[in-house]
Amino acid sequence: MSLIKDLTLDIKNIIKESGYELDNFTLQPSGRRDLGQFQINDAMSLAKTYHKNPREIAEDIVKGLEQDKRFTNINIAGPGFINITLTNDYLVELMNKVNEDINVLIDKKEKKKVIIDYGGANVAKALHVGHLRSANIGEAIKRLALLLGYDALGDAHLGDYGRPLGFVIKEIKEMYPDLPYFDENYEGDYSEVELPITNEDLERIYPLASSKAKEDEDYLEEGRIITVKIQQHERGYYDLWKKIVEISKADIKATYNDLNVNFEIWNGESDEMEYFDELNRIYQEKGILKDSEGAKIIEVANEDDKAPMPPLLFIKSNGSASYETTDLATILERKINHDPQEIWYVVDGRQALHFDQIFRATRKAKLVEDDVVLEHIGFGTMNGKDGKPFKTRDGGVMNLKQLIDLVYEETYKKISNESIKEEEKKVIAKKVAIAALKYADLLPYRGTDYIFEVEKFSDLEGKTGPYLLYSTIRMKSLLNKASELKQDKMYKINSLTEEDIILNILNLTSVLDKSLEAKALNDIADYLYKITSLYNKFYAENKVLTEGDEQLQESWLVLTKIVHKVNSLLLDVLAIDIPEKM
Ligand code: ARG
Repeated sequence: MSLIKDLTLDIKNIIKESGYELDNFTLQPSGRRDLGQFQINDAMSLAKTYHKNPREIAEDIVKGLEQDKRFTNINIAGPGFINITLTNDYLVELMNKVNEDINVLIDKKEKKKVIIDYGGANVAKALHVGHLRSANIGEAIKRLALLLGYDALGDAHLGDYGRPLGFVIKEIKEMYPDLPYFDENYEGDYSEVELPITNEDLERIYPLASSKAKEDEDYLEEGRIITVKIQQHERGYYDLWKKIVEISKADIKATYNDLNVNFEIWNGESDEMEYFDELNRIYQEKGILKDSEGAKIIEVANEDDKAPMPPLLFIKSNGSASYETTDLATILERKINHDPQEIWYVVDGRQALHFDQIFRATRKAKLVEDDVVLEHIGFGTMNGKDGKPFKTRDGGVMNLKQLIDLVYEETYKKISNESIKEEEKKVIAKKVAIAALKYADLLPYRGTDYIFEVEKFSDLEGKTGPYLLYSTIRMKSLLNKASELKQDKMYKINSLTEEDIILNILNLTSVLDKSLEAKALNDIADYLYKITSLYNKFYAENKVLTEGDEQLQESWLVLTKIVHKVNSLLLDVLAIDIPEKM
């Protein structure tokens, strides 16, 4: 429950006592604030049910509402729209409850176990902007789900299976043919072998190996053979693979850490493929697999499909498993180890067909019960000014670290606070850069593409991460400066701006609910900007620290405290860190 839900139920009851039953009732914030803060538009639909004039119904309801001291300025507009306003006394009472416990704004849902798959970084390859979007959106959706009472687990689902690693090892073999990993007669302990390779080397090796494989048949063939050796855990090759995963994973973890992204589960595709035999057995037993030119496939098309739906490739003709199969094995593993009620995939929208195929194949074999929700939460791309996926200056794929550096260069220039020393300035500029990048990424609806504009994202004014951080820090600093003053109780509301802020605070419940329902963060990002700019308007209109009316001053401080709490809560949902100063 939440404050606003309680109020909604009370009004629903008043309507009932006036003689009218409603199934669903929500209190609509009014678009015409001159008429009232909220609207009740149900007289029109009730008129149909009760065969009465809507205006008459509205009048009956208004009589009921007028008995309640919490409401004022109740009026009817047009054919039967009821406008109502909450008294200042009641708003103040509500704010005092919020000040005591911000949870009164949060409508907890029934507990549900959800696994959220939002990593997908690939071992031995640099993270790129696509991984940024998965991580940002996924982490925020997970935090939102947790806040609203779900039992949510994030899974990094590392790409550590398949051919790229085979090629990387092939290239390492070219570079260092004498490494004991390639010596069949080596009898020592591989875990003690020094590998003269860093993560930076790995990131260089992969593109090199993959271009060589394109030009050289033999190279390609050996890469394939090595891939199979790794998958069959062949001594030497498998040990080298483990070492590479370890090096790369440490770097991937550090990058996710910079982004405030944490996974509860750190499985890789290779861990999931341990369930392949069981998976294969299920599909075999149920007679779902079909032979097709040496490969095994699963037909997933339905009669009523509007678009072509190709079969899912289960085992390729060369005997290796496909990307689809790794995802099926993952579903089986999750069922066995976690038995989730829902699995959400926060992955690029261009993989929609892939997920459609694996969901259909899952249902066909009933890998999970029919009521388990499987959902692909797709997203658009981050583009350059040319409208194409964002690239480096020389046209290469923009890796995530380069992207963060680009923003950092810009935010570093923005920190003008003289009291901040050089070392600290770098740390703060990094936090602000991450905030700039993350907020810009979460602000548009996730499904749409957007353009990377570093100056705009880093601006201290406007709808940006830095603006939100700067304003939130200023709220905290006002509270600190007023630490000698009482900050416990709100007594009154002095202006329309304050009233606006309060109505927005009450609206938080519905913003959170809507966001979870849509599994999108744009409403939260918008809301943060709205409440922050309203607060800044209030801040400019008043001199809080020198106000002579003590009760008014305390009311203002409490309002500041609440907005600061709301901002901190929501920035935390978006996984944006607030520095102490900037
Ligand atoms: N590793 C994949 C890539 O970089 C993304 C994996 C997405 N998650 C999944 N369960 N398929 O494209």
